[in-house]
Amino acid sequence: MRDGRREDPHGRGDAARDETTATPPHPVLEQYYARADDRQSFVGALFDGAARHYNRIGRMLDFGSGPWYRRDALRRAGLRPGMRLLDVAVGTGLVARGAVDILGKPGGVIGVDPSRGMLQEARKALSGPLVQGRAEALPFHNGRFDMLSMGFALRHVPDLAVAFREYWRVLKPGGRILLLEVVRPSSPVSRWLVRTHFQRILPLMARISTRSEPAQLLMKFYWDTIDQCVPPETILEVLRRTGFVAVDRHVFYGLINEYVAAKPPQ
Ligand SMILES: C[S@@+](CC[C@H](N)C(=O)[O-])C[C@H]1O[C@@H](n2cnc3c(N)ncnc32)[C@H](O)[C@@H]1O
Repeated sequence: MRDGRREDPHGRGDAARDETTATPPHPVLEQYYARADDRQSFVGALFDGAARHYNRIGRMLDFGSGPWYRRDALRRAGLRPGMRLLDVAVGTGLVARGAVDILGKPGGVIGVDPSRGMLQEARKALSGPLVQGRAEALPFHNGRFDMLSMGFALRHVPDLAVAFREYWRVLKPGGRILLLEVVRPSSPVSRWLVRTHFQRILPLMARISTRSEPAQLLMKFYWDTIDQCVPPETILEVLRRTGFVAVDRHVFYGLINEYVAAKPPQ
């Protein structure tokens, strides 16, 4: 496979790329890992360890609404039969399954994720292509996809600017992206309530129902990354800086941020 990673998405040369400021989605979280360089191996081990419990934990979070919500979000963002979708951070396949429902054929959805454990779980639910890889170095040719989705994983990439440049590169002109992320509550009271729920109640429930330490840790880490995440304005700004147009954010029931954007048609 040809490696398109070295190509400049804007065709403006190295100088344009150097202008881009690194934008990690959150600072180093020292209670989990010591240095920025250790982050990916921590995240990898966490998801590998919790993979077989991920869907069960997810149902504790959303009471089972996750699969249909993801499918509806894809439809709202413009996914239509005949398109080819790349689902980055496919995890156990919850977004990709919604996409297969819309497209009507498994081959139209390609899932990519760095975690072998999550990919093994995804394989149980999906018959289409699954590839091991990271958002910041996607193992695909330029201009291959009509749409790209990423569900609840923006917080796990090392640098938003690098990931978004990759999204730009693999999309066709006119291609769209949909990024789903949890909303950080703005009022101190609701933040306290959600923090208590995520830091105390959900980890305990996860531990009791799965008997898995990684599943418990995943819940705690989940909240800390939401709490420490850069604000939505930064995410929108990095998307615009990358060159995306029609950049927008829709808030779903005050709980989920749906970021949408498009690569301009040529
Ligand atoms: C919370 S799960 C989300 C899974 C799925 N998208 C969903 O909606 O349920 C986060 C996923 O991000 C993946 N991930 C972690 N670091 C990543 C990276 N640098 N690039 C792409 N995916 C990453 C993890 O392996 C994990 O499967």
